[in-house]
Amino acid sequence: MGTFWNDNLKHFTLGFLGLWICFGASSAIAAGDIEAGANKVSMCVGCHGIPNYKTAFPKTYRVPRIAGQKVDYLVSALKAYRSGQRSHPSMKAVAGSMTDQDIADIAAYYASLN
Ligand code: HEC
Repeated sequence: MGTFWNDNLKHFTLGFLGLWICFGASSAIAAGDIEAGANKVSMCVGCHGIPNYKTAFPKTYRVPRIAGQKVDYLVSALKAYRSGQRSHPSMKAVAGSMTDQDIADIAAYYASLN
């Protein structure tokens, strides 16, 4: 009787631990979260034009279209602004405060649009 419960408890505990490790590991990878990204783009809207993803200030800026671009492209562009490899002042200011997770989320969000 005692061993029966002990064995069950052990399996339960191991199973739980396995699940916990899975979730822990997947959240450690900086995979883009589209919904999280949608909540982080409010400051992009003015220039990159939402809704309908048209340029918000056609006379002031020629702002590139970023909706529907490839995730990898968006990630590398944002990292390039953040690192100073690309030097546009407004994008440098915007990307400068982003974490890798922000970039991944935002890229996932914009890549999901078309
Ligand atoms: C003040 C206006 C402004 C804001 C705010 C802004 N952008 Fe930009 N963005 C620009 C301009 C202008 C360019 C083109 C810069 C250049 O020529 O390198 C650009 C370029 C980019 C590019 C590169 C596109 C390409 O095809 O090379 C990406 C990606 C981008 N922006 C993403 C964002 C994201 C994401 C946000 C919000 C977090 C944002 N931008 C906020 C004006 C802005």
